[in-house]
Amino acid sequence: MPAELVCFSERCGARFPVTDPIYNCPTCGSLLETRYTGVRTPAMLLKTLWRGRRTSNAALDQSGVWRYREMIPFLDNYESVVTLREGNTPLLPARKAAEYGGLDYLTVKHQGFNPTGSFKDNGMTCGASQAVRLGMKRVACVSTGNTSASMAAYSSAAGLQPIIFIPHGNISYGKLAQALEYGAKTLQVEANFDQILALVRTLADKLGIYLLNSVNPFRIEGQKTIIVEMMDQRDWNPPEWIVLPGGNLGNTSAFGKALRELCEWGLIGKVPKLAVVQAEGSAPFYDLMQTEDRLSLRAVEHPQTLATAIKIGDPVSWPKALQEVTLSGGVVEQVSEQEIADAKAIIGLCGIGCEPASAATLAGIRKLTASGVIAHDADVVAVLTGNVLKDPDYIYRYHTGELEAPGGARIQPTFGNRPIVVPNDPDKIASLLGD
Ligand code: F0G
Repeated sequence: MPAELVCFSERCGARFPVTDPIYNCPTCGSLLETRYTGVRTPAMLLKTLWRGRRTSNAALDQSGVWRYREMIPFLDNYESVVTLREGNTPLLPARKAAEYGGLDYLTVKHQGFNPTGSFKDNGMTCGASQAVRLGMKRVACVSTGNTSASMAAYSSAAGLQPIIFIPHGNISYGKLAQALEYGAKTLQVEANFDQILALVRTLADKLGIYLLNSVNPFRIEGQKTIIVEMMDQRDWNPPEWIVLPGGNLGNTSAFGKALRELCEWGLIGKVPKLAVVQAEGSAPFYDLMQTEDRLSLRAVEHPQTLATAIKIGDPVSWPKALQEVTLSGGVVEQVSEQEIADAKAIIGLCGIGCEPASAATLAGIRKLTASGVIAHDADVVAVLTGNVLKDPDYIYRYHTGELEAPGGARIQPTFGNRPIVVPNDPDKIASLLGD
């Protein structure tokens, strides 16, 4: 199916070949979107085809992204595809989390089950495959951690050289360790995410390096499949709400685009509402939604949150995210550090676990049910974006009462589970265990 890059600004609407290595419209500077023209396969045929591929041993079919390749047809052929069998992430019931969130029932889609432990893999398989197709040798990203881990893995798997830029001292060791292990040239810059993104964009153009941040439209295409897979797993019955954390807002853009396209293609009958949750100290999108005209986003100059994955003050994809949240009839909420930490512990108590940014979803749900925006009996899916092992330091500090919010305030270990030091004495241990 023919694909092209189209300027997201309706006033401009410029179109470019899908093989142009561009990330913003060269005419007006707006974001770009991948669009497809041509004959669509009927919805019923697609549903049968995709279900059938689940039993196939072919690499493309085993990938939870490329299995749905008819929804992301930007490649001419599949020779350039690099896949680590991403996607295939489960929908899990979370009873305790539902109760805590004020819901009768809650399902989580856990993107932390991906090869590098976050939803970034869904997009990165597409971004890296496009880099191979374009004959690129080096790829780069700025990252709060997960993008770098994912980009390092996929580009090394593809034989490309990964170069990552990260805010010095501001990402978890779990994520940094992955990037090092996967062979990325790693540059720690004394600046925050937003400042480094501006730097990397200049460098990428100058040095001919392919940029794999979520401003890259092919990353967004891959992340769409999180929603396609979710609907497939639900037998094409959309929930009422999909709740996700918001940082640079690439994922919000991807989810909205996926939902619109699934509707246009006749694969689902209605679009669920999107609820985006940000951390209070890093909530420019939430602030934008409080303004009357919602015309321009005011960046948070020094974003603060322990949920480092969403510590972003100037999200590049906000115009797309604004459109998607508005079209879906959704909302944006903000939550405190204490609320994130407690919600995270509850997700842990479900035997599921996630990283801090992901837990913002449950904290947001709790607020949105309390205010009556989400009904207690609503059908809700929360997308947990990253694996529990991404930030073990945070977990240990929470459970031992040592976790401090950015301003220095102590986070209460409401659901703390402190390890107990015991002597090597069976009687004492037995009495401690109540036997
Ligand atoms: N959750 C996790 C675990 C993330 O890593 C990110 C983003 C988000 C949520 C927010 O997603 O930016 O699409 O709104 N992490 C980026 C990174 C920015 O560099 O890894 P978004």
